[in-house]
Amino acid sequence: MAQSHPVKDSFVNNAWYVAAWDREVTREPMARTYLNQPVTLFRREDGTPVALEDRCCHRHYPLSQSKVEGNNIRCGYHGLLFDAAGVCIEIPGQDRIPHDARVRSYPTVEKYGWVWIWMGDPALADVAKLPNWWWCEHKDWAFTKPDMLYIPCNYQLVTDNLLDVTHLAYVHATSIGTAAITEFPIAVDRSDEHVRMTRWVIDRPAPPMYQTFGQFPGTADRGQIVEFRPPAFTVNFAQVADHGTGAPEGQQGTRRIDLMALSAPTPETETTTHYFFGFVRNFGLEDPKLEQMMAVNFVNVFKEDVGVLTAQQMRMDSMPDAPQIDIRVDIPPNAARRIVNQLRAAERQTPGAVANAAE
Ligand code: FES
Ligand SMILES: [Fe+2]
Repeated sequence: MAQSHPVKDSFVNNAWYVAAWDREVTREPMARTYLNQPVTLFRREDGTPVALEDRCCHRHYPLSQSKVEGNNIRCGYHGLLFDAAGVCIEIPGQDRIPHDARVRSYPTVEKYGWVWIWMGDPALADVAKLPNWWWCEHKDWAFTKPDMLYIPCNYQLVTDNLLDVTHLAYVHATSIGTAAITEFPIAVDRSDEHVRMTRWVIDRPAPPMYQTFGQFPGTADRGQIVEFRPPAFTVNFAQVADHGTGAPEGQQGTRRIDLMALSAPTPETETTTHYFFGFVRNFGLEDPKLEQMMAVNFVNVFKEDVGVLTAQQMRMDSMPDAPQIDIRVDIPPNAARRIVNQLRAAERQTPGAVANAAE
């Protein structure tokens, strides 16, 4: 009998999530949990990634602790052999293979240096639904690929944080934050598929890290644009240019630099997240010192957020019923949450939306 996988209340199932950096997935099976579901990932002989439920259908031994044989995986307990689709194709000591001797398999795709996984109905998995992060593959941009950060917090707290740039002045005061940020208003536009927040900080000194990147002698015009697409894809655009060179109007100007942080937090459980992120930039492409700064200094900025989010989730867990208030900076994060809520509600109304690939 095929097992059922009920729709999880707080996750959007029918969506791509980053499962791993491509460098993490090898011929050795690895274990990782997404949306409360344990998964094992490995590569076939031709390099194609495979994602299977991390549970043998016999006695639940984790397949991640088993052995890849060619394109198949053999359970490390009693030796059942599963193909890349999760179908059992061999049972040692018997000829008959029960028709329900299979485990769930998940669609995967490789793009932008990541292996992506589709946790919902496999029939709905469509690569066109991946975010369009073309900079990652374009020769005029450099792509920094830091290791994933594991954060003991709900994935939506990560998105909240990315859509709220006022925290830069408090959490990141010594790196990318300046007190000037809160002086300038934000504009928000939104649809059922995106939230976009724009703020321009005009005629102010560039923050410390951007000073090092661009060495802006006078004041700068700095754009902070944050774009969210469900379920959890956020791009934080940072544009810095000499003041008065037309950057807010979209001109490249002189010595304008563009830097984007791409974020794809993947839920592990309700209160834990695999936070995948990367940086793209259109300056100093071949500069190893700059690359080192991105890979170390900028990652350290993100680690400042990890401390905040960990503490926030800890207190939310200890006082689950305590009320929260909203302030103006919550408008973009709340708009993003509304989109996710709509998607979740739509999934719940569609019986069978989360089908079992093993059925
Ligand atoms: S638990 Fe996998 S073969 Fe028995
Ligand atoms: Fe932050």
